Amino acid sequence: MASNTETILVHEGQHFNSTAAVTAPIFQTSTYIADSNPAEYIKAATEPKHPYFYHRHGNPTNSQVAAVVAKLEKTADALVFATGMAAISNAILAVVKSGDHIVAQLAHYSGTSIFFKEFLTDYGITVTAVDQTDTDAFARAIQANTKLIYIETPSNPNLNITDLKAIGELSKQHEILSMVDNTFASPINQTPRDFGIDIVVHSATKYLGGHSDLTAGIVCGSQDYIAKVWKRSVALGASLAPLDSWLLLRGLKTLSLRVKQINSNALALANFLDQHPKIKKVSYPGLISHPQHELAARQMRGFSGMICIEVDGQDEEQAFKNAQSLINNLNIFINAASLGGVESLIVHPASMWGGHHTQAQKEASGITLGMLRISVGIENVADLIEDLEQALRKLD
Ligand SMILES: Cc1ncc(COP(=O)(O)O)c(C=O)c1O
Repeated sequence: MASNTETILVHEGQHFNSTAAVTAPIFQTSTYIADSNPAEYIKAATEPKHPYFYHRHGNPTNSQVAAVVAKLEKTADALVFATGMAAISNAILAVVKSGDHIVAQLAHYSGTSIFFKEFLTDYGITVTAVDQTDTDAFARAIQANTKLIYIETPSNPNLNITDLKAIGELSKQHEILSMVDNTFASPINQTPRDFGIDIVVHSATKYLGGHSDLTAGIVCGSQDYIAKVWKRSVALGASLAPLDSWLLLRGLKTLSLRVKQINSNALALANFLDQHPKIKKVSYPGLISHPQHELAARQMRGFSGMICIEVDGQDEEQAFKNAQSLINNLNIFINAASLGGVESLIVHPASMWGGHHTQAQKEASGITLGMLRISVGIENVADLIEDLEQALRKLD
């Protein structure tokens, strides 16, 4: 099978389609006919590479999606889940047990931060959160019981970058595993395995699905590791439903086209916003002004569609009002959570995640009152710039 991304996206995993249909069918079934020796069949169902048995154990479309993403992420295997958080929690629980320690970042997707702070601690697993821009801080945080370094780059929402090569080397040196949330970059822009990272997780709800019409998650890693994750997933039960899996498979076919358009739109928008007098700060790894641009350019092929801006104001209160007015003045950008779809979205993180984060947590992940997070879509870039221009013109 070809090894170029665009061909992988369209053709990989076709052998999981047991019919003559060019497009994989939706295997809308919860269970499968046993073979002639049920006792052997049930025994086989306790192994990850079993014939299809029951939906929690596997579904052909889920296998096809996993084959595509594993190939893109250069891992031996992968497993799909009903959401990104299901993938992340199952992936972590397959590595750590009570008494173990994780080194993670101060800034993560809020659901991941909550999982670390409020759930893992209840099971005797401790987490040290460090500044991801300070590579030495990861090394300093490693303890005798550390089993995992968990990173997210670019991180949500502040678009800081973690040095993948340094973390890959550090984990090898200490013989512990490294795991990265590659959601913001997508495998089109970044392949963490190239830098020695062991495990890659995604919220496939975002770029991989790409149409804001499903939730899904995926864990990519070695065959032995995915077998461990699979065992837990059968017990925890967050399986991706057949229709959503089929939508994800369809979305994946255009991933490269979409992400390339999004990369190009986002860079143009970031440049426009960077020069606008009513915008105090633009954080986009593709801009030379991003403090970690050089690192981003070393480990990313494109800079993706996530931009963080700070709207200007005489004080924080005014910046807050201006940020909210800007959202209300926009006609094309939709005010909604999530990201990575074909449509451009904008959110005010301080309001959206106000309930989840204390003030100290917001500050630690760099969330300010004037901050807006934009997920750039595939619309015509001139229309997007014009929309932002007219909305900014209306601010005091
Ligand atoms: C970087 C990142 N990881 C994980 C998730 C969780 O994904 P899901 O909402 O599919 O559970 C999100 C959701 O926004 C995210 O932005």
